[in-house]
Amino acid sequence: MGCCSLFSCHRCGEERSEVDGEIGAIDNLKIYKYKEIRQATDDFSPEYKIGEGGFGSVYKGRLKDGKIAAIKVLSAESRQGVKEFLTEINVISEIQHENLVKLYGCCVEGDHRILVYNYLENNSLDKTLLAGGYTRSGIQFDWSTRANICVGIARGLAFLHEEVRPHVIHRDIKASNILLDKDLSPRISDFGLARLMPPNMTHVSTRVAGTIGYLAPEYAVRGQLTRKADIYSFGVLLLEIVSGRSNKNSRLPMEYQYLLERAWKLYEQNKLVDLVDSSLNGVFDAEEACQYLKIGLLCTQDSPKLRPTMSTVVRYLTGEKDIDYRKITRPGLISDFMDVAVRGPVATKPEKVNKHNNTSNLYSSSNGSSSPGTRENSNAYSSGASSAYAGNTFSSTI
Ligand SMILES: Nc1ncnc2c1ncn2[C@@H]1O[C@H](COP(=O)(O)OP(=O)(O)OP(=O)(O)O)[C@@H](O)[C@H]1O
Ligand SMILES: [Mg+2]
Repeated sequence: MGCCSLFSCHRCGEERSEVDGEIGAIDNLKIYKYKEIRQATDDFSPEYKIGEGGFGSVYKGRLKDGKIAAIKVLSAESRQGVKEFLTEINVISEIQHENLVKLYGCCVEGDHRILVYNYLENNSLDKTLLAGGYTRSGIQFDWSTRANICVGIARGLAFLHEEVRPHVIHRDIKASNILLDKDLSPRISDFGLARLMPPNMTHVSTRVAGTIGYLAPEYAVRGQLTRKADIYSFGVLLLEIVSGRSNKNSRLPMEYQYLLERAWKLYEQNKLVDLVDSSLNGVFDAEEACQYLKIGLLCTQDSPKLRPTMSTVVRYLTGEKDIDYRKITRPGLISDFMDVAVRGPVATKPEKVNKHNNTSNLYSSSNGSSSPGTRENSNAYSSGASSAYAGNTFSSTI
C-alpha cells in the first residue's frame, strides 16, 4: 500500500481539501451522491464489475435518470490515482467529441473518489480485437470496421492536439484505452496522464509516463514531451489494428515478436501485405490495408519532426491526401537507446505483469520499487540507458 488509508492522515487530509477545492471550481460537472452510485452498482457487487485498471475497479450501473454508466472507483491504495483523478476531470469535463469518452460526472464524498462515464457496449480494443485465441470476443472486425476505428481514433486525437485550447497530449494512447460503442465506433478514454500544452511552447519537460511498447523513444529517453509522442503511440496502435496482434508477442519466434520491427522488415522487403490479420481470410482491400500500415510507419519514424500531424494522418487515412511513400524512414525503437541487448539474455526473463492488467506498463517508481498505483517514472532514462536502474526497468517491462 503506497500511503495510509487515503484520507486518514495529515498529508492525506491536505489532499482531500485539494480535491474538494479543484472539483468545486469546475463548472457544469455533475456531482453524484455516493448513495446513488451504490444503488447503481448494487453496492459494488462483483456481478456488476466489468474491469480493473491502474486506477481501480470499473463497474457497470444504471443511474437514477436511467442512463447506463461505467463507474470507475479509485482504489484506496492508489495515491497516484488522486492526481490522475483530478487531471481526468480537468481535461475531459470541458471537452466533447464523438471519439472521446464522455464523462458524466464524479463523486467526491468522504474518502470516495469515483468517475462516472457513458458506458460503451463493446469493451476495449485489447479485450476484443487483440485478445486473440479463445478469449476473442466474437465481434467481427472486418476491414471496413477496422478502417473506421482507425479514422475515429485519429479524429479524436487530432481534436485533442489541434482544436482544443490549450492543446492536450494524451500520453497513454494504447489498445486498452480505446473503447468501442454499440456500432463499434471508437472512443479514446483515460485522460489521467494527459498534459496540457501551454501556448507557444515546443515541448513540455515531464516525468516519463505511459506504456512500454507505445512510448516514443525520444520521450522515454529525454522526457521531452510533444504531440509527436502521441502520434508515435497512435502509429503502433494502427499497426496493431491492421495486423490484429499486440505490439509484442513473446510466444512468437524472436524475429516476429516486435510488431514495429516486423513491419519495417516487411516494408523493406515490399511484403507489408503479409502483416495484415490472417483472420480477415483475405477479405480486405489490400492496397488500402498496406497504405494504413505505411501510415503507421510514418507515425513511428525515429525523427519526431518527420512524423505527420494528426490532422494530416486523418487526411491520409481517408484518402484526402496522397502519401509520399519515398519518405518513410526507419522507425524509432526504444531498444536502439538501450545499452542492454534487448535480444540478449535479459529479454528472455519473464515479462513484468501487473496485477491489474497484462500489458507491460511502466510502473516502476523512482526508488526502483514497483507499485500498481504509480504510472510515472522519474525520467529514469534521462541519464542514459546505461544505469542499472534503466536497464532493469526496460528488461522487466519490454
Ligand atoms: N466507459 C466504459 N465503458 C465500458 N467499459 C469500460 C469503460 N471504461 C472502462 N471500461 C472497462 O474497464 C476496463 C478497465 O479500464 P481502465 O481504464 O480502468 O484500465 P485499463 O485501460 O485496462 O488499464 P490502465 O490502467 O493501464 O489504463 C476496460 O478494459 C474496459 O473493459
Ligand atoms: Mg484505461
